[in-house]
Order: sequence, then C-alpha cells, then structure tokens
Amino acid sequence: MMRLLLSTMVLVLTGAMVAATDKMFSPLHSAHGALFELQDDVHNDYELEEAEDANCLSPFIDIEGRCLYYNTAMTNWTSAQKACEAINGNLIEIPPEDQDPLSEYIYNITVDPYVLGAFWTGGSDKMEEDDWVWLSGNPVDGNWGEDESNNNTGMEENCLMLAVGDAVYKDQRCSHIWGYLCEPGPCYYLTCGTNAQCFVSNYVDGNCTCNEGYEGDAYSECKYNPCHNITCGSHASCVNLTDITAECQCNNGFTGNPEEGCSLIDYCDGVSCGEHASCHADDSDAECTCDPGYPDGDPDVECSGGDKSTYSSWLMLLMTLSVIVLLGHQNEY
Ligand SMILES: *[C@@H]1O[C@H](CO)[C@@H](O)[C@H](O)[C@H]1NC(C)=O
Ligand SMILES: *[C@@H]1O[C@H](CO)[C@@H](O)[C@H](O)[C@H]1NC(C)=O
Ligand SMILES: *[C@@H]1O[C@H](CO)[C@@H](O)[C@H](O)[C@H]1NC(C)=O
Ligand SMILES: *[C@@H]1O[C@H](CO)[C@@H](O)[C@H](O)[C@H]1NC(C)=O
Ligand SMILES: *[C@@H]1O[C@H](CO)[C@@H](O)[C@H](O)[C@H]1NC(C)=O
Ligand SMILES: *[C@@H]1O[C@H](CO)[C@@H](O)[C@H](O)[C@H]1NC(C)=O
Repeated sequence: MMRLLLSTMVLVLTGAMVAATDKMFSPLHSAHGALFELQDDVHNDYELEEAEDANCLSPFIDIEGRCLYYNTAMTNWTSAQKACEAINGNLIEIPPEDQDPLSEYIYNITVDPYVLGAFWTGGSDKMEEDDWVWLSGNPVDGNWGEDESNNNTGMEENCLMLAVGDAVYKDQRCSHIWGYLCEPGPCYYLTCGTNAQCFVSNYVDGNCTCNEGYEGDAYSECKYNPCHNITCGSHASCVNLTDITAECQCNNGFTGNPEEGCSLIDYCDGVSCGEHASCHADDSDAECTCDPGYPDGDPDVECSGGDKSTYSSWLMLLMTLSVIVLLGHQNEY
C-alpha cells in the first residue's frame, strides 16, 4: 500500500514535467511507433529525475559518467539496435570495469517497480560462434553467468544480454525480447551542415552527406543544384538561371530544341555570294570567299581570274593546237 502511494505521488509529480518536456522526447516517439510508446512513458519518468545534472544530448542521460540511454520496452536484439540508431546511438559496449557499477545503477533505478533486470548490449557472436565481440569489433571482456556463453539451450544464442541483478552476461537467442541499453553512435558526435545528413557505416563510422539534389561541403552548407535532375539533349547543357531554377540551352554554334537535341547552326543558310565565290562558315559566322582560280574581285559581287585563268587559257590553246596537228598527221596516211 505504501509503495503504491509512493509510486502514485512520483507519477503525479513527474506528470507535469513530462507534459512540459514532451517536445524533447517527441522524435523518439515518432521513431519507435506505437509499440514503444507506452514503455517510453514509463521510462521517461525515470529519465526526468536524472536529467537535471546531465550534460548529454537528449534522450541520453549521464549514467556513471557516460552518456547512455536505457529502455525497459521488451524488444528483440535487431529492433533494439534499430531503436538505438533512431536516437543516433548503438547498443552499448561495456568496458570490463563498468560492468559492475553500470549493472548496479541500472538495477537500482529499474528493478522496482518494474522488475525486469535484463538488457540487450551490443555484444554478439553472430560472425563467428563463441567469438564474442562488441559492434566496434572489440572483444567482450567481463563476467559471464554460470553455464553461459555456451550454446547450452541447443538453440543459436548469439546475442549478449546483461543481467543487471547479478551483473553478469548471458548469451541469448537474438529473437528474445529484453530491455536495451544504448550509447551514442558516430552521428551523435557529428554536426552536419545545412541540407546535409549523417550516415553510419559499420556501426562506428559516420559521415555527413548532402541531401539529394544538393551539393557543397556537407559539414558546413550544401546548396541546391537546380541542374541536378535535368537531362538535356545532345549539344545542349543545363544552365542555372537562379538559385532554384535552371534550363537546357543549346551549346555555342548549335540551334534547335535543347531538350531533344541541337544541331550545328548553318550560317550560310540564306547567304548569297557573288559569281565564282562561295559561302564558308565557322561556328559563329559566315563569309563569302572567291573560288580557287578566281582570286580577284569582291566575293560578294563577282570574282575574276588571275594568273591561273590566263595559264588555263594558254593550256586550252595548246591543246587545241595539238589536236589540229594530230588530225593533220592522220590525214597524211
Ligand atoms: C544502489 O542502491 C544502493 C542501496 O540504496 C546504494 O547503496 C548504491 O550506492 C546504489 N548504487 C548506484 C550505482 O547508484
Ligand atoms: C548451437 O546450437 C545449434 C542448434 O542445436 C547448432 O545448430 C549449432 O551448431 C550450435 N553451435 C555450436 C558452436 O555448438
Ligand atoms: C524483431 O522484432 C521485429 C519487430 O517486432 C520483427 O519484425 C523482427 O522479425 C524480429 N526479429 C527477430 C530476429 O525476431
Ligand atoms: C558516407 O557514408 C555513406 C553511407 O555509409 C557511404 O555510402 C559514403 O561512401 C560515405 N562517404 C564518405 C565520404 O565517406
Ligand atoms: C549550378 O549551381 C550549382 C549550385 O551552386 C552548382 O553546383 C552547379 O555546378 C551549377 N551548374 C552549372 C551547370 O552551372
Ligand atoms: C526535379 O526536382 C524537383 C525538386 O527537387 C522536382 O520538383 C522536379 O519534379 C524534378 N524533375 C524531374 C524531371 O525529376
């Protein structure tokens, strides 16, 4: 009866604080969904008591000098790790010297009135049977319960649970449901720039990457690239018009529909040159030039023969004379 009265008082007292700080915990609620909601509320009552001297980013709290997070919601190992990731964390890695004090602390604050006493950690021997490692790859070093770490149920027991009452590790089926303990992960420590997000690889490496369609330094600022999803036709390029708009334009010297493809501009189209002159174009202009053999004159009006045409007249005369001579010889026979 006494205990019930006490619990009720604590709930009433913390109720107002929970309401006032509800915003603080809302990302957690949305990340976990309905399954965790009820248990999170239970947990938050504890958390608020601890939050006062904490120098940790919510929802992590200062536990024995480390920023940690615990949840009494019954969860399998994979889902527990996912829940930790949702708050930029990982399932906890426990140095040997922390096993006892951490167990005692968690035991003290969770065992009454919610008798649970078992929490998932980041340890497992999934990769190689009996090779117990934390998510970082560091070996698990600590006290095991009697007959534990030995596959003794005849089922695959590849995940590491901390029994806080006895302060010992137990190997468990990963599909089993227990509470869980999280520590900050790489994204907890990284501050990404605007329009960028933190990504984790292999649990321990994190980096900031610009959001889709943005470019720049992901640690300071990513800017929208209006050309990011625009594909232009051949001989056309995307050009930024403003910070948010862009369009395809034909490259220099090309014309047409820049979305479908541009073709070489024919600058000679519609240009008429003089006699014995022709139009020649480069990629920006057209020009009339005299044809070979007609070097003189204005190519826009008329070009006339120079030395070359005199030479060819002489050539013609010579050929005519040769034919006449040839014909004369033929007649002699
Ligand atoms: C746990 O509770 C016991 C008894 O109240 C206390 O002596 C001990 O210091 C507590 N341990 C921690 C780590 O808070
Ligand atoms: C653990 O038990 C399972 C189920 O009996 C078995 O498949 C597996 O090989 C065992 N592992 C070891 C290392 O004995
Ligand atoms: C863990 O729990 C989630 C959510 O309830 C479920 O989808 C998943 O299949 C479970 N995984 C294992 C290994 O039990
Ligand atoms: C950042 O992390 C993502 C996701 O793990 C990865 O694909 C990418 O290559 C990483 N980038 C850098 C620069 O490390
Ligand atoms: C358009 O602007 C973005 C963002 O400033 C820049 O990264 C990109 O190189 C620009 N693209 C072109 C084709 O000018
Ligand atoms: C390009 O991206 C913008 C905004 O990101 C979007 O509104 C538009 O539909 C996209 N266009 C294509 C062709 O994907």
